[in-house]
Amino acid sequence: MDSNKRPESMARIQTKEQADAFIAEQISAVRAQVGSGKVLLALSGGVDSSVVAALLIKAIGKQLVCVHVNHGLMRKGESEQVIEVFRNRLDANLIYVDASERFLSKLEGVAEPEQKRKIIGNEFIVVFDEEASKLTDIRFLAQGTIYPDIIESKGVKAHHNVGGLPEDMAMELVEPVKLLYKDEVRVVGRALGLPASMVDRQPFPGPGLGVRCLGAITRDRLHALREADAILREEFDNCGLASKVWQYFIAVPDFKSVGVKDGKRYEGWPAIIRAVNTVDAMTATIEEIPYDVLHRITDRITHEVDGINRVLLDLTPKPIGTIEWE
Ligand code: XMP
Repeated sequence: MDSNKRPESMARIQTKEQADAFIAEQISAVRAQVGSGKVLLALSGGVDSSVVAALLIKAIGKQLVCVHVNHGLMRKGESEQVIEVFRNRLDANLIYVDASERFLSKLEGVAEPEQKRKIIGNEFIVVFDEEASKLTDIRFLAQGTIYPDIIESKGVKAHHNVGGLPEDMAMELVEPVKLLYKDEVRVVGRALGLPASMVDRQPFPGPGLGVRCLGAITRDRLHALREADAILREEFDNCGLASKVWQYFIAVPDFKSVGVKDGKRYEGWPAIIRAVNTVDAMTATIEEIPYDVLHRITDRITHEVDGINRVLLDLTPKPIGTIEWE
């Protein structure tokens, strides 16, 4: 039987009971596969890798070594959450690598989006490889592959995700959720006790804020983007839009306009709000954000974030506008 094919008899996991049964099954399978061997996992903090980590911690405890690479393009508080949940709450064997400086120096002056993606992807592999080579005795590599990654001919993970790892790592793969759909992964994550903020996370591109800090990334503009994005998320949480909208974020382009602050000329970048709904990310519609929410967000971003002097709203559905700006 093809182990990459979901059996037709496999019921969709929807309830806590079904998730618990799946977890118990996978715990035995993983234990049988790895024995007393050590397993390495690149833990981005995204839904899939987080659920795999929690499942493997349950199955093999400290035999799992998680590596979280902070590429400096995470949203505000994300790396901190990975450390809090996995190291502090789940007592995981977690190696945290703050590689922000390396990534940001490599990206300096690079404006072309695909080149930016390439640099981020390659540097990720270099950093992960460096960490892996410091460890001895690792025979297994765990991955958060999910069923759509397998069935989509050009699976998002293959060409999109920063987590694409070199094939010559010569490790046997451990992929406990590879037959699950995303909604099932979330149900399993909840049953494993992961926080809602992690399990219900909106999709986040592998290159992170790198493709939202448009053009050549600078540290000050990246900082402004991260702060503005955090305000947008906070306000969406407060008004209930967070659980309704599929993906929402800020992009900050590489140009300034004139403004006025405290009676003085104030040049700043615009923050562009994008909030879309979609089923499969192939097409997307625009969420109608109430004007009072837009005013509040504008007020907060222009007053609280250094360097931003205007807030714009992107009303373009996909097609023609892609979800991301780059
Ligand atoms: P687009 O911009 O193509 O985005 O309409 C569709 C979905 O894919 C995400 N996306 C990415 N995800 N690496 C990723 O892991 C990437 O380079 C990348 N580019 C876009 C985007 O956020 C949306 O969910």
